[in-house]
Amino acid sequence: MTDHLGQKLLYLSQSDVAAVGLTMAEIIAALERMFREKGEARVEMPPKIGIHPAPDAFIHAMPASIPAQKAAGIKWVGGYPNNSKRGLPYITGLLILNDFDTGIPIALMDATWITAKRTGAATALSAKYLARPDSATVGILGCGVQGRSNLEALKVLFPLKKVYAYDTHADRSARYAEEMSLKLGIEGVSVTDPKQAVVASDIVVTAGPILRKPHATIQSGWLREGAFASLVDFDSYWQPDALHEADKFCTDDVPQLHHYRDIGYFQDIPPIHADLGELVTGRKPGRQNPKERTIACNLGLALDDMATAPLIYQRALEKGIGAWLPL
Ligand SMILES: NC(=O)c1ccc[n+]([C@@H]2O[C@H](COP(=O)([O-])OP(=O)(O)OC[C@H]3O[C@@H](n4cnc5c(N)ncnc54)[C@H](O)[C@@H]3O)[C@@H](O)[C@H]2O)c1
Repeated sequence: MTDHLGQKLLYLSQSDVAAVGLTMAEIIAALERMFREKGEARVEMPPKIGIHPAPDAFIHAMPASIPAQKAAGIKWVGGYPNNSKRGLPYITGLLILNDFDTGIPIALMDATWITAKRTGAATALSAKYLARPDSATVGILGCGVQGRSNLEALKVLFPLKKVYAYDTHADRSARYAEEMSLKLGIEGVSVTDPKQAVVASDIVVTAGPILRKPHATIQSGWLREGAFASLVDFDSYWQPDALHEADKFCTDDVPQLHHYRDIGYFQDIPPIHADLGELVTGRKPGRQNPKERTIACNLGLALDDMATAPLIYQRALEKGIGAWLPL
C-alpha cells in the first residue's frame, strides 16, 4: 500500500499468515511461474549464507528477487533438530518483504507456515515433471511438518489413495496416518520398518533430520521401478548406491547444491540431470517413460519464499489481516 510506504510495515504473525487462506494449489502455481522465470535466468538469488550455532543446526539468510513479480526480500530461518525434545518446532523464521521499487520494508511475517507449504509445493512441482501421473501410493518417512505439507501438496496433483507413514517415533506415524485419512481422504498405514514405506510406493518423501553424515537407511533395490523420490532432508536418508539407481537426479538450484557439497553434504550423489527451472521451461526433459526411477533433491530456495510471500501480503491487505507497525 503506497500510502504506508516508508511510514509503516505490516506485521503478520504465524496465525495471520495461515488465516490469509492461500491454498496449496495457488502456492504450487506461484512456484511454477517463479521456476519459469528462474529457467529464463530472470531472477536473482545468491546461495544461502548461514551460521551454525549447534551441531546439525543452522540459521540461514535467504534473499531473493523476482522482477516479473516485483518481489524482493529475505527470509531468516532456523533449523534445530533437537528442538522437538523441548516441544519446539524444528524450523522457525521471519521474512522481510521489501518494496521492489524503493527497497523499503513493507512487511514482516512469520516464515514457519510459508516454509512448510512452499517446500511441499516444490516437491509437488518436481513430481509433476518427474513422477508418473497415475502415482497413487506415497511413502512418507518423517511424519512431522514436512511430512504433512508434502502429502497435502502431492494430493493437489496426483490421484493418491494410500500413504505408508514411517517415523522413528511410532506414535507420530500412527497419529499422522489417522490425521491424513481424515484431512485428505487418503488411507493412512503406519509402518514400523522404513523399508515398508519405500518399496510399495510410487512416490517417496524423506523428511527426517538433515545430517551432515547421512544415516543412509534406504538401500539399493528399495525404490521401485517407475517411482519418484523427493529428498526434503537432503541425502540423509539414502545410501549412495540407492541414489545412483536413479535414472534422473534433479535439484532446484545447482550452485546451491555445489555450495552444500563444498561444506560437507552430498559427498556421493549421481550427476545432476536438470534443475527445476530447466524442467519447467522444457529445456531438459522430465520423466520419459513409466519405468524410470527419478529423484528430486530440492534444497529449498529463497525464491520459493519470495514467490509466496507477496501473495500472502496482498491477500492480507485485501482482508485487513495483520498489525501495522511504525518504521
Ligand atoms: N529442503 C527444504 O526445502 C526443506 C525445507 C524445510 C525443512 N526441511 C527439512 O525437512 C526436515 C523435516 O522438517 P520438519 O519441519 O518436518 O521437522 P519435524 O520436526 O516437524 O518433523 C521431523 C519428523 O521426523 C522424525 N524423524 C526423526 N528421525 C527420523 C528418521 N530417521 N526416520 C523417520 N523419521 C524421523 C521425527 O520424529 C519428526 O516426527 C528437516 O530436516 C528440515 O531441515 C527441508
